Amino acid sequence: MKLLDDQGNTLAELRSLECTLLASETDDAAVNTLEEAFYHYQWTPRQLTLSDEGVTGSDSWLILSSEQTQPSIKPFIALLEGRGISPKLLTTRNVPDDEKAMTAFKQALEENLAAGVNHLIYFAGDLEGEQHLPEFTDVVNPCLPLIALAQSLDNPALATLKTRVKEPEFQLNLNIVTRGAHTIGGKPTNPALQPAASLAHLLANELSAITPRHIDLALGAGAVTEAELQMLVNELLDGQEEDIALQGEMRFIRELTTTTIDAGEQRIVHQIPANDPLNPVQLRKSSEGSLEFQPIPPAILRPDEVQVQVERLLIDKPDIDALLQGRRKTHQLPRLALGWIVATGVDCDEFALGDEVLVLVKDSAITNQYTLNHRFCHKRPKGLSEALYPDLAFYAAALYMLDDVAGGASGKVFIQNALSPLGLALGQLALARKLTVFATINQEAQRQPLQALGIHRILNNKDLTYTTDLIDLLGDSRLDLVVNDLGNEHATQLFKLLAPGKHFIQLPAVDGQELTAAPALTNYRYAYLDIFQSFTSQPGLFAQWIERVKEVVINDNLPPLPKGVANAGNTIELLNYFMLSDDAGQAVVEFTDASIAVSENLAVPPIDRKGSYLITGGTSGLGLQIAKWLLTQGVESIALVSRNGSNRPEAREFVESNQGKQVRLFDVDITNLEATNNLIQKINKEMRPLAGIIHCAMVLDDDLAVRMTPERMRNVMRPKVQGTLNLHKATLDLPLRQFICISSISSLIGNVGQANYVAANAFLDGFAHYRQAAGSPATTINLGVLQEIGVVARDQNLAMVLDAKGIQGLLTEDVLQALGYIINNDPAQIGLFKVDWALWAQQSPRSAASSRFSNLVQKARARQDIPPALAALLSELEHQEQYFARLLEILSGELAQIVKVPLSEIKQDRSISDLGIDSIMSVELSRGLRSKYGLEVTSMELLSGPSLDQLTEQLVNQLTEKTC
Ligand SMILES: NC(=O)c1ccc[n+]([C@@H]2O[C@H](COP(=O)([O-])OP(=O)(O)OC[C@H]3O[C@@H](n4cnc5c(N)ncnc54)[C@H](OP(=O)(O)O)[C@@H]3O)[C@@H](O)[C@H]2O)c1
Repeated sequence: MKLLDDQGNTLAELRSLECTLLASETDDAAVNTLEEAFYHYQWTPRQLTLSDEGVTGSDSWLILSSEQTQPSIKPFIALLEGRGISPKLLTTRNVPDDEKAMTAFKQALEENLAAGVNHLIYFAGDLEGEQHLPEFTDVVNPCLPLIALAQSLDNPALATLKTRVKEPEFQLNLNIVTRGAHTIGGKPTNPALQPAASLAHLLANELSAITPRHIDLALGAGAVTEAELQMLVNELLDGQEEDIALQGEMRFIRELTTTTIDAGEQRIVHQIPANDPLNPVQLRKSSEGSLEFQPIPPAILRPDEVQVQVERLLIDKPDIDALLQGRRKTHQLPRLALGWIVATGVDCDEFALGDEVLVLVKDSAITNQYTLNHRFCHKRPKGLSEALYPDLAFYAAALYMLDDVAGGASGKVFIQNALSPLGLALGQLALARKLTVFATINQEAQRQPLQALGIHRILNNKDLTYTTDLIDLLGDSRLDLVVNDLGNEHATQLFKLLAPGKHFIQLPAVDGQELTAAPALTNYRYAYLDIFQSFTSQPGLFAQWIERVKEVVINDNLPPLPKGVANAGNTIELLNYFMLSDDAGQAVVEFTDASIAVSENLAVPPIDRKGSYLITGGTSGLGLQIAKWLLTQGVESIALVSRNGSNRPEAREFVESNQGKQVRLFDVDITNLEATNNLIQKINKEMRPLAGIIHCAMVLDDDLAVRMTPERMRNVMRPKVQGTLNLHKATLDLPLRQFICISSISSLIGNVGQANYVAANAFLDGFAHYRQAAGSPATTINLGVLQEIGVVARDQNLAMVLDAKGIQGLLTEDVLQALGYIINNDPAQIGLFKVDWALWAQQSPRSAASSRFSNLVQKARARQDIPPALAALLSELEHQEQYFARLLEILSGELAQIVKVPLSEIKQDRSISDLGIDSIMSVELSRGLRSKYGLEVTSMELLSGPSLDQLTEQLVNQLTEKTC
């Protein structure tokens, strides 16, 4: 196509056209209405604080256990006895099958409760650690003792129990213990256990006397170990949260949070060798809040760069904290990595492929491959023990301080925070030089590791009283060298203890305190030293330092500094180390040839338009709507399955209006395995090959747990439990693209009056994780209330009750739109609902107090009386850990606008005075933050010149207060 002028000359020529299908406005609008409707569970690592408080005299414990859990019970009881608890034991044997046994069980339960039991530990299901496909009874039976418990509490036959339960302060702590009910990081699960666990929360909603808790132990080979049982005992005695998973030495808390979901890539987790040069990866925070390796694009080498495959990398606790909190490290220390050269730029001929090198790492990325200027890379010096290599940068820094800055220090040296990596190196070098070392720590637990390193004059700097103790230790003498990494308050006191003419080295303050220039004394030598800055700004010196320090390390026989070792393939071990270690908080991450799990988003075409889709419950309600939607997505072969669907006019009409396609009705009860097998064979033979299952079948029979019978439990659980198991077994050999279970919000919140339905849906939730962990497709969708179709829409009373509780209706159009997004993203579990959490918290105060919902409820309450811009900000931030990064961004933007400088010129660690902020600008910024976000920073504070980091921290604190 040509554009010509009046004379016919060509002005422009269009040579080709590209046609791209753009999302229509209506698509976007539909997703926008669902912006806050997607939810997922997040597992947050949190350490347990052990108290010394024992059990009180009025505490009385009862253990409920089945035969399967017996092997773990004996050692568990022994541990409880060690803590002064003598629990009673009641077996749940025969409870489910036998009416008489059930009555006897309830009687025994009531007698125990009447006798004063106020802590109940229920070992639900199988604790053996074997992962196997459960039978229907393995899923239902662990639920029944809990139904019996509800009935015992509500209708106690014994007069003493009646009196006890009626006492307003009566509380029964119900602890359900499972093994492998939850999955963290894609590990295998035991799908039979979530139903029983979900009933803990339901019972608490129905019976105010119950305080619920679910503790899940990690699935492992063989019996539960003593260490795990010990953690369980600690959790039972000291834990506060409601939903806990114990994995190794780690403890995770389950919290429901909103999540975002985009149009469409699949998240794939696969194993790769940790040291493969073709697979560069980097540790990042996953959307679920844990740490995971993600692939990074291969770097393009500049002529002066080399690429190093990392073998071992030294990291410290701030690296991990920064990652988890989504912020940059404020104080950097030089870090070394060991590796070998895998590529070189054309100007780097001093290196050959395979050379073993030491690398000075300039950022805090934890990765198996660095691409960097060759001058930060040095051939590994020979003659050192392996464990010493990662410490060379710290020893080099210590050497620089003692010899170059302090001119060959002698006499008495003071090292602030001597258990920091730099402090440790200084201490060791000073001892080797026969200097007298005075050191500080900030936790008593750090005393012993320092003493083990030969340092004995140790003071605690948690407040300033250590300076008085230091004067006592020094007597008439004074210090020859002070190395201080704390702010003004400390520096001022330490200056007074310095001998005339001696050296004071100030490092960047790790306590965030202000650092002004040295006091106006003349008789001392002061140096401000940012070692990281010095090393990284003078790359040429790196090689010299390494060679020089190598000689000193060998001659002075300096030891390797204390540090842990963690395998890159085990991110839980890594977290564990940093959460639990009291020592210097450094670890070497090893990228060996072991494999690491890498999470990646891949664009895989999700819906198979050439295959068949089977929809159970497809002849009515949501199932039928999904069938119609699949046709709009290009699917042409759909099997609609229910027990009596062929009689339903709307289903017949749908089939008749799609004569040209393969849309068929099947009257099949999917709780029958044989019938399900035949159905699958028939579909594969007579229709297109089966590509996906959407499991919507359900029956309802709501009632309170106190009126629930085993039979009613089984009836409602059958289509969702037995039906799912049958569909799974019948399609084991088929290459399915999707296996989607439509679960409910009920299993997350424990909807009152739905014990059987809650348990049934909880099974779907557990099963989806089980299948995904086994490498098969599976998604469970915890769906909220449907406004226009399905069982709630048919029952106006139920719809009104739910609405009054804050659970709002979803439009079918939105649900189908969201379904497409969910299919594209393939999560194991996702919530899709609209809840007014503030109203819900008012109506369901018990659930609202639970750690599972605290995030959502706090946010909703805070939003009720805050400016709209702040409300929007909070809705965007899922977790407090994200506050810093986002507020920093906002503050930088506001500053750039007011001061009129490009955003790139705003540096977070520099004082805002450097940008030339004047009094008018400070008033403008202060007003803007107050009116838009309700955040208070006075103009005076702004004029005092804080760094952007400090200012952001101040705002983070305010925001945190607002949301608590
Ligand atoms: N409606 C809502 O507001 C809502 C909210 C959250 C979650 N959900 C979930 O969404 C799904 C669909 O709900 P809906 O309200 O659309 O349900 P619905 O209209 O009551 O449909 C349920 C279907 O399941 C079929 N079914 C029951 N037992 C079966 C069996 N053994 N074998 C084969 N089919 C069986 C029923 O047909 P026959 O009787 O002919 O067998 C019926 O067609 C359910 O899984 C439900 O838990 C719904």
